Amino acid sequence: MPAYAVIGGQWGDEGKGKVIDYLAGQSDCVVRYAGGNNAGHTVVNERGEFQLHLVPSGICWPGVTGIIGNGVVVNPHVLLGEISGLEERGIDTSRLFVSDRAHVIMPYHILLDELQEQARGSGAIGTTGQGIGPAYIDKVSRDGIRVGDLLDTAEQLPDRVQAAVDMKNRVITGVYGGEPVDADEILELCRQWGEQLRPMVRPTEQMVQDLLEQGKRVLLEGAQGTLLDVDHGSYPFVTSSSPSIGGAITGLGLDPRSIKGVLGVFKAYSTRVGGGPMPTEMHGQAGEDLREKAHEYGTTTGRARRVGWFDAVAARYSRQINGFTGIVLTRLDILDGMPDVKICVGYRADGKDLDRFPANTTLLERCEPVYEKMPGWMEPTASATRAEQLPANALAYVKRIESLVGCDAQIISTGPSREETIAIEQIIR
Ligand code: GDP
Ligand code: IMO
Ligand code: MG
Repeated sequence: MPAYAVIGGQWGDEGKGKVIDYLAGQSDCVVRYAGGNNAGHTVVNERGEFQLHLVPSGICWPGVTGIIGNGVVVNPHVLLGEISGLEERGIDTSRLFVSDRAHVIMPYHILLDELQEQARGSGAIGTTGQGIGPAYIDKVSRDGIRVGDLLDTAEQLPDRVQAAVDMKNRVITGVYGGEPVDADEILELCRQWGEQLRPMVRPTEQMVQDLLEQGKRVLLEGAQGTLLDVDHGSYPFVTSSSPSIGGAITGLGLDPRSIKGVLGVFKAYSTRVGGGPMPTEMHGQAGEDLREKAHEYGTTTGRARRVGWFDAVAARYSRQINGFTGIVLTRLDILDGMPDVKICVGYRADGKDLDRFPANTTLLERCEPVYEKMPGWMEPTASATRAEQLPANALAYVKRIESLVGCDAQIISTGPSREETIAIEQIIR
């Protein structure tokens, strides 16, 4: 029953989409377990470049089943648009399924996300504005509408939508002074969504369990990253779900014993979008230069990503939270041509050394990184496909990261496309 998880080890955008597309060729099924269309996963292969927000990143492989699990929050408008965009480009989406237990992002969730962010003022999280937090709030408060409910438009749905809209409008108008939403319009949208989604709605926990019992290879596609985890990340500057391994179990109804490998995806440096502490952030011209060289702009929002050196303190923490069995190091090529490279090996705050990623966000904000400097490499790693092609200093950099994080690199990515990959170890067996 082999399941392999691919999880962001940093603040998201580590290159999970690329890695999933690469590994999906050796898999039968790719499953998203958390988050929603706050995710933007880039896949580059012989079919072109794709930005996927909800559709699992194995979709370009014919014969690979894609599943959106119960832990995901689904905006049906975005999902249906993404499916038709893929079909127009000749990608078959007939093997795509969505859980009847997944919660629906409603128009009022998107509005509330915006209003809440405005109200936070200078303390804004910098959300993606896709209604993710408000949709998860309704799930936990038991006021949510699930994908399965959309199929039941004649029975309970009208009353449920009316009750939800009444409650939301009291908050939207009373608390935030916003414009109320219209229950009939939303109900009509739900009817349309239900009809369009009906053929792909399934009890996906059962599907995943059956596939694993048949010995099929299942890839668990993480979204966001461990440092954005609602429990383990830099709270409150986090997302509202569990991108780490725990989220894969609850977000799919998965037998934990089926997990044979947990891969942590890390960029060879760090990025973060939105607010919150980032100890290794590079400010000024150095940061600008790296951002431009690396084209670090968000896939979902187009926002400039904050950039910094590799943070081994945060990465080691992330490895421990997830029990990573291997690392995937992406974007090594971005560091090509730098005279030297730095790794953060510790934090210093209030005159003391810290060797762990602290829970206290204000303490994390005060943390100064302690850097280890290593010589860079002038020869390119870009597009390398074998470890022997890497310059000695690049290899030494990878080895140092492995030893600081406490986990070996199983894949090194040297470019955005599928073939720009060094497979150090066979992962899927
Ligand atoms: P995800 O959210 O983790 O899937 O990552 P994103 O797709 O948001 O951002 C990663 C970006 O890096 C995308 O533009 C990828 O095409 C690109 N990418 C992935 N791996 C590599 C790599 O090894 N080298 C380079 N240069 N780009 C990469
Ligand atoms: P992928 O899957 C990077 C960040 C947002 C914000 C915080 C909360 O592409 O790696 P939310 O809209 O989730 O309530 O925003 O989380 N964030 C991401 N950053 N990559 C992502 O996804 C992200 N998804 C959410 O920028 O700081
Ligand atoms: Mg992304």
